[in-house]
Amino acid sequence: MDESTRKHLGVQEDKPTDWFETLYAGTKEAGAGVPWANMAPHPLFKAWLEQAESGSGKTALVVGCGLGDDALALEAKGYTVTAFDVSDSAIALCKKRFPESQVDFVQADLLAGVPEWHGKFDLVLEIFTIQALPPKYENTLIQNLSDFVSDSGKLLLITEIRKEERSFEKGPPWLLNPSYRKAFEAYGLSEIYHDPRAKAEMGEAIHLTIFKKTKAN
Ligand SMILES: C[S@@+](CC[C@H](N)C(=O)[O-])C[C@H]1O[C@@H](n2cnc3c(N)ncnc32)[C@H](O)[C@@H]1O
Repeated sequence: MDESTRKHLGVQEDKPTDWFETLYAGTKEAGAGVPWANMAPHPLFKAWLEQAESGSGKTALVVGCGLGDDALALEAKGYTVTAFDVSDSAIALCKKRFPESQVDFVQADLLAGVPEWHGKFDLVLEIFTIQALPPKYENTLIQNLSDFVSDSGKLLLITEIRKEERSFEKGPPWLLNPSYRKAFEAYGLSEIYHDPRAKAEMGEAIHLTIFKKTKAN
């Protein structure tokens, strides 16, 4: 993001989520002005979901759901879906775009955590949310994400990667370092699938990684 956009949106290290509301409040249904809005499920996630087993009888949580397309794809696969975003305007747009959907679209903050969701979800989906917040929050975000996963559940994460050390001045986005894969172990998750691709939009690679719960919450 260039310096003038960063200033215009008011990106601040100690108020790291405020600018998302500013951005979504200024957009229309079509998602104009939201840089990550594909108005479709993420292609890597879509390809994974197409070959995955049905989600019937299972719960899924979509973290930082944006305009809601990934949540709808999970619903179509049979999951009972909750999807949240820190931005009230993003959640309002999801409800407006998908009035027939049974997805429970709610406003919530991953940084604060949501205790009532601890250990609740068979599948947690996180695409580009850790990298949307400054590096100093990485451990908290990883812990709070891990907390949502049920004892037999999984977390599917898609993130872009850069080897250069992360610092506030270099984002947003603050692409993750490869070490994120190990960081989940401290919170009871272990890696069971890793699909790294060299063709990334912003960084040196894009990863789809799946973790499973190894320790009870
Ligand atoms: C880079 S966007 C990615 C959106 C979506 N996952 C996608 O791939 O299109 C990051 C999203 O996370 C949301 N977000 C940022 N911080 C958050 C937080 N602390 N809790 C919940 N959502 C957050 C933003 O509002 C935004 O919709």
